[in-house]
Amino acid sequence: MNNNGKVLIIGAGGVGRVVVHKCAQNPGVFTEICLASRTLSKCQDIQRELSRPIQVARVDADNVSELAALIKDFKPQLVINVALPYQDLTIMDACLETGVDYLDTANYEPRDEARFCYKWQWDYQERFKKAGLMALLGCGFDPGVTNIYCAYAQKHHFDEIHTIDIIDCNAGDHGLPFATNFNPEINIREVTAKGRYYENGQWKETEPLTVHKTFDFPGSIGPKEIYLMYHEELESLAKNIKGVKRIRFWMTFSESYLTHLRVLENVGMTRIDPVQYQGQEIIPLQFLKAVLPEPASLGPKTRGKTCIGCLIEGIKDGRRKRYYVYNICDHQEAYRETNSQAISYTTGVPAMIGGMLMLEEEWHQPGVFNVEEFDPDPFMKKLSQHGLPWTETFMDTDND
Ligand SMILES: NC(=O)c1ccc[n+]([C@@H]2O[C@H](COP(=O)([O-])OP(=O)(O)OC[C@H]3O[C@@H](n4cnc5c(N)ncnc54)[C@H](OP(=O)(O)O)[C@@H]3O)[C@@H](O)[C@H]2O)c1
Repeated sequence: MNNNGKVLIIGAGGVGRVVVHKCAQNPGVFTEICLASRTLSKCQDIQRELSRPIQVARVDADNVSELAALIKDFKPQLVINVALPYQDLTIMDACLETGVDYLDTANYEPRDEARFCYKWQWDYQERFKKAGLMALLGCGFDPGVTNIYCAYAQKHHFDEIHTIDIIDCNAGDHGLPFATNFNPEINIREVTAKGRYYENGQWKETEPLTVHKTFDFPGSIGPKEIYLMYHEELESLAKNIKGVKRIRFWMTFSESYLTHLRVLENVGMTRIDPVQYQGQEIIPLQFLKAVLPEPASLGPKTRGKTCIGCLIEGIKDGRRKRYYVYNICDHQEAYRETNSQAISYTTGVPAMIGGMLMLEEEWHQPGVFNVEEFDPDPFMKKLSQHGLPWTETFMDTDND
């Protein structure tokens, strides 16, 4: 493994654009950047937006030998994978073959089964350890910063954490009747899956989007309906936050989004199994993706803010305590800085920070890790420095 500070970023989508912009802003750490994706012109579009030169390449990240050839040619110290979750294992294989560290923001999913599960990637533990390489998983916002918020709460504010509620609000408006803020195929697979949460050592399932309540968000956002969903960070947090009794994940949706989604589901457009159409097989959800707006095109249209945070309860010094830590991100400010809206921004900035900590060896250990396994302090410090400041509030709940 070399220590040259070179980074290969794979995936020239909404998140990829932010990662490239943010790495380019930090030339002292990211000495050279190569952006590679399936469509070369998308890499070239991003390349033209930057004041600093970067390399671009076309690569099919489903193909290990193509990836390995690109890595051998560019010789990066780190590969940041912001393509799709389907490519996680091939990119990890290529990193192992070429001796390079790995980072991603979403866990592996097979194409034909909407199932979020870390097992496939945790199974690489021994191979990465033996090779002296590090793989950092889920280093976006959620998963990513939400895990770090929990680790930070555990380190500084609680003797025992009892419950964690991760609450993700997008109060932005793009003015379109229906569009998703990140890859539509991945987004719809996620929200149409059954809800699932962890309680007293067991996983409990709920029908999709049936459990909901109102949550009063800080800033100018105010009360919104939040819906219980399964989200991948629940799996690693249930393992890594010692003694936690319950973890749930909630997300806001507008009435319009839910109505469109219900219709699309009812007519079969969200199916991920192949159907015959005019003599060829198509997957309805992939066809739907082709007709929906590209998430990247929503950037200039989106107004408003996101608010993602963790509401944590437990015990400190014998007293019951409630702690809420969150970030508010403005869509238009994110767009002005990186040509991307806040959903891509809040994912891309933590990916850059994770990469920075790995290159600076502040976070470096051979093996496969989730972010909450490292010291949260340097990450929390860098969040404030690089565009995602956080706010925390405390409540003593002994008298509730
Ligand atoms: N942790 C978090 O907080 C969080 C939040 C949002 C998103 N994410 C994750 O971030 C990742 C990127 O999301 P996004 O919104 O940027 O998606 P996106 O806009 O669809 O971008 C994905 C990019 O990957 C490229 N790609 C897909 N398959 C490829 C392949 N086989 N080889 C090479 N490139 C390939 C696509 O190329 P083409 O354009 O040519 O198809 C596209 O440019 C996803 O894994 C998503 O799940 C994480």
